[in-house]
Amino acid sequence: MEQIRAVPSESNGYYLTVLDSVGDGVIVVNRAGLVTLMNPAAEELTGRSRRQTLEVAFSTAFSTEPTLVEMVERTASSGVSRSDQDNVVLKSSGRLIPVNATTVPLMQADGETIGVILTLRDMTSIRELEAAVRQADRLSTLGTLAAGLAHEIKNPLGGVKGAAQLLERELDPESDLQEYPRVMIREAERIDRIIRQLLELASPRGPRYTPVNLHMVLGDIILLQREAAGSREVSIVTGFDPSIPPLMADEAQLTQVFLNLIRNALEAMTEGGRLTVTSRVLSEYHLGSTEGRNRMVCVEVADTGPGISVENISKVGTPFFSTKEGGTGLGLAICQKIVADHRGMMKIDSLPGEGTRISVLLPLIQSPVKG
Ligand SMILES: Nc1ncnc2c1ncn2[C@@H]1O[C@H](COP(=O)(O)OP(=O)(O)OP(=O)(O)O)[C@@H](O)[C@H]1O
Ligand SMILES: [Mg+2]
Repeated sequence: MEQIRAVPSESNGYYLTVLDSVGDGVIVVNRAGLVTLMNPAAEELTGRSRRQTLEVAFSTAFSTEPTLVEMVERTASSGVSRSDQDNVVLKSSGRLIPVNATTVPLMQADGETIGVILTLRDMTSIRELEAAVRQADRLSTLGTLAAGLAHEIKNPLGGVKGAAQLLERELDPESDLQEYPRVMIREAERIDRIIRQLLELASPRGPRYTPVNLHMVLGDIILLQREAAGSREVSIVTGFDPSIPPLMADEAQLTQVFLNLIRNALEAMTEGGRLTVTSRVLSEYHLGSTEGRNRMVCVEVADTGPGISVENISKVGTPFFSTKEGGTGLGLAICQKIVADHRGMMKIDSLPGEGTRISVLLPLIQSPVKG
């Protein structure tokens, strides 16, 4: 049987350049099942180099990706394209990447199938955006509920606290009973704090933009929290990109975000550890097509604490989810709301046993808010 060689010749240089510039991964497999072409995006997504895979059987080179092997084989034998594999996950450098894989038959002008083209699209940012949207949906429902509830609770709570204060005054200062009104007042104040945080979460008030010196905000928080960390063996390392200009943001809200994140990190490191706070500019980060290409600032707060368990990672940031005694579980939910209001994004990476890294992405320039 005649051997099909789909390896492009020099005269195909123009087409190769085009393929190399495509953002999606493209792999071509010939009729004999050998890989004959692979663009740089495919190398990056699959963690395999062209040198390793060219002229090697696809089923061998990608033996750890049975879904892809099956798709290629089916298209090769049936001539029918397949593209419903939305959840294929490639393992490159130990990282899981959600990809959308499509196989189409490579046909000659006479309709004869001479191979299969496999395209791979990295779905990471789309998945992240989808998760952020789901979270925002959950928050807005909660917000409406919370606002109503908070309003109903505030008045009776004020009554309870007032009565406890009266009782405290009426009692003999030396009385053993003094402890009880004090507990009542303290706990009423705690409820009050939770309600205020809930209202914050539910508040429709958007950010009040002014130019904010990000590093000054971070520096002040770190200075105060260094004191709070006190005798614990926590070292604090900062790495700021001095070229970051003032951001258009709500300073009080940003302070709240980074205070919550840094407090969480310090609270996680009960045995001591290292807190790292860094800032940098991501030059061409783009949030979907509607936002266009915006320059984003990325602030990372990383700790060497116990990390978040696989079981809990999807729950953190859900209002009231807390593993802490006395924690409200509203801290991260508020952070997420504020960051979303600033048209940014928050990402949590955590490895149990190694630590947690929270990245906050904020647009460098805010386009004027309408209305
Ligand atoms: N840096 C971190 N390391 C490990 N776990 C974390 C970290 N940050 C958050 N978490 C987990 O996420 C949960 C929710 O955090 P969140 O800040 O929303 O609430 P909280 O800290 O429990 O309460 P509050 O912020 O009201 O004091 C925490 O209880 C903890 O389990
Ligand atoms: Mg917290």
